[in-house]
Amino acid sequence: MKKHSIVIAGGGSTFTPGIVLMLLDNLEQLPIRQIKFYDNDAERQKEIADACEIIIQEKAPDIKFVSTTDPKTAFTDIDFVMAHIRVGKYAMREKDEKIPLKYGVVGQETCGPGGIAYGMRSIGGVLEILDYMEQYSPNAWMLNYSNPAAIVAEATRKLRPNSKILNICDMPIGIEERMARSIGLSSRKEMVVRYYGLNHFGWWTDIRDKEGNDLMPKIKAHVKENGYALPEELAAAKENEASQHADASWMHTFTKAKDVYALDPETLPNTYLKYYLFPSDEVAHSNPEYTRANEVMAGREKHVFGECRRIAEQGSTKDTTLEIDEHASYIVDLARAIAYNTHERMLLIVENKGAIVNFDDTAMVEVPCIVGANGPEPLVQGEIPRFQKGMMEQQVAVEKLVVEAWEEKSYQKLWQAITMSKIVPNATVAKQILDDLLEANKEFWPELR
Ligand code: NAD
Ligand code: G6P
Ligand code: MN
Repeated sequence: MKKHSIVIAGGGSTFTPGIVLMLLDNLEQLPIRQIKFYDNDAERQKEIADACEIIIQEKAPDIKFVSTTDPKTAFTDIDFVMAHIRVGKYAMREKDEKIPLKYGVVGQETCGPGGIAYGMRSIGGVLEILDYMEQYSPNAWMLNYSNPAAIVAEATRKLRPNSKILNICDMPIGIEERMARSIGLSSRKEMVVRYYGLNHFGWWTDIRDKEGNDLMPKIKAHVKENGYALPEELAAAKENEASQHADASWMHTFTKAKDVYALDPETLPNTYLKYYLFPSDEVAHSNPEYTRANEVMAGREKHVFGECRRIAEQGSTKDTTLEIDEHASYIVDLARAIAYNTHERMLLIVENKGAIVNFDDTAMVEVPCIVGANGPEPLVQGEIPRFQKGMMEQQVAVEKLVVEAWEEKSYQKLWQAITMSKIVPNATVAKQILDDLLEANKEFWPELR
C-alpha cells in the first residue's frame, strides 16, 4: 500500500497530540511515511511538536517528522492536509463568547454573533492554507474541520469552487456514538443514518442497523427521557461527581437535547440546535465572566500542554495521560475513502445541488455522502418539513451574508447577518454587538466600509 505524507495545519492545536496518536494507531488502515506540522505560531507549535516527535519516535520511528512555520516546507510533497486552525486562538474565542453575553445574547464559538465573528477571522486563514496546498501539492486533498465549519465551507464553495477540500464535523459522530451506546450497540458503525441540515444545525430522520431494522423508536425513547446523556453519566451527576466523560457544560448540552427533541419528535436533533431554540435558557445559566473558552483553557489546554512539556523534559511518553482521540478516526475513514476509493458513507458539509430537494441548491448542507477517490457524492434526502426548512433558510442566509460581508468588506451586510441570526433579538442589539466585535477583531477582520 502507498504510504502517505500528511501535514497537520494548526500543529499547535490542543487536538494535535490526540490525532497523532490516533494516526499512529491506524497505520495498517492508512500507512504514513511523513507527518508535518504547520502553524503560524512557532512557540505554541513547538511545545506540541517536541512531544509529538518523541511519540512518533517511540511508536513509528520510520515516519519522518517535520515541524515548521514555513508554508513551502509544510505543503510540499503532501497527500493530505488535515486542518484545524483557530484564527485568534482562545483569547479571541473568549471575546466571541463574552461580548454577546454582555447584551444578554448567547455567546458561543460557532453559533450566533460569536460564530459570525469567528467566521470573519477564519475565512482568510483557511483560504490561505488551501492556496498553499494548491501551490505546493496540487494533487492533495484538504480535510478541514476548522470552525466555524458552516461559514468556512460556504466561503470555500464560493471563493474556491474547484478546490479539493472536504469539510467535516465531529458532532454528529459524537452524538451517533452516544445513540449507539444508549441502545447497547458497540459502535455507531453498526448504524446507517439519514440526516439533513446545515453544520451544527441538523436532524436525523432515519437510523437503522445493517439488517435494515428501525432503531429510531429505541433511541427516541432514550432521548425523550435523557437527551443524549448516557446512564453512567446520569448516575455520576446524581452522585454529584464530575463525569469522566464530559465537562459540565457538555453534560448540560447532552441533557438539553431532550427539550430540543420535544419540539419535533419525528426527528432526532443535533445538540447545537439548543442555542437557537432555547437561547434564553442558555443565557440564564451562562456565567458572563467564565465561559467555555475559560473552561477549555483551564482544562484541555492546560492538560495537553502540561503533558507535552513533561514528555519533552523526560524524553519519553512514560506514564503519559495523553489519550488516543478515538473518535477522530473518522478523519482516517475520510482519508481512506479518497486514497482507496472505499465509498464509505459519511456525513459531510457539501453544496446542496438537490440533495435536500426543496432547499437552496447553492447552500452548504450536511448530508450523508458516498466518498470515493473523486470526492463526495451526496445522497438525496428528499423534501424537508416546513419547521426545519424555515429555520434553515434563516440560518443559511446568515452564513451567506457573512461570506458576502467578508468578500465585499461590508459593514452593512455583517449587521444584517447578525440581525438575521435567530438568537439576536433585534437590529439595535445586533449593532451594539457588532460594534464591540469590530473593535475586538481589528487585527483579524478585513477593514469594513
Ligand atoms: P487551538 O487554539 O488549540 O489550536 C489552533 C491552532 O491554530 C493554534 O496553534 C494556532 O496558532 C493555529 N493557527 C491559528 N491561525 C492560523 C493560521 N492562519 N495558520 C496556521 N495556523 C493557525 O484550538 P483547538 O481548540 O485545538 O481547535 C482547533 C480547531 O479545530 C478550531 O477551529 C476548532 O473549532 C476546530 N474543531 C472542529 C471540530 C469539528 O467538528 N469540525 C471539532 C473539534 C475542533
Ligand atoms: C464539537 C463540535 C466542534 C467544536 C467542539 C467544541 O466537537 O463539533 O465543532 O469545535 O465541539 O469543543 P470545545 O471542547 O472546544 O468547546
Ligand atoms: Mn463541529
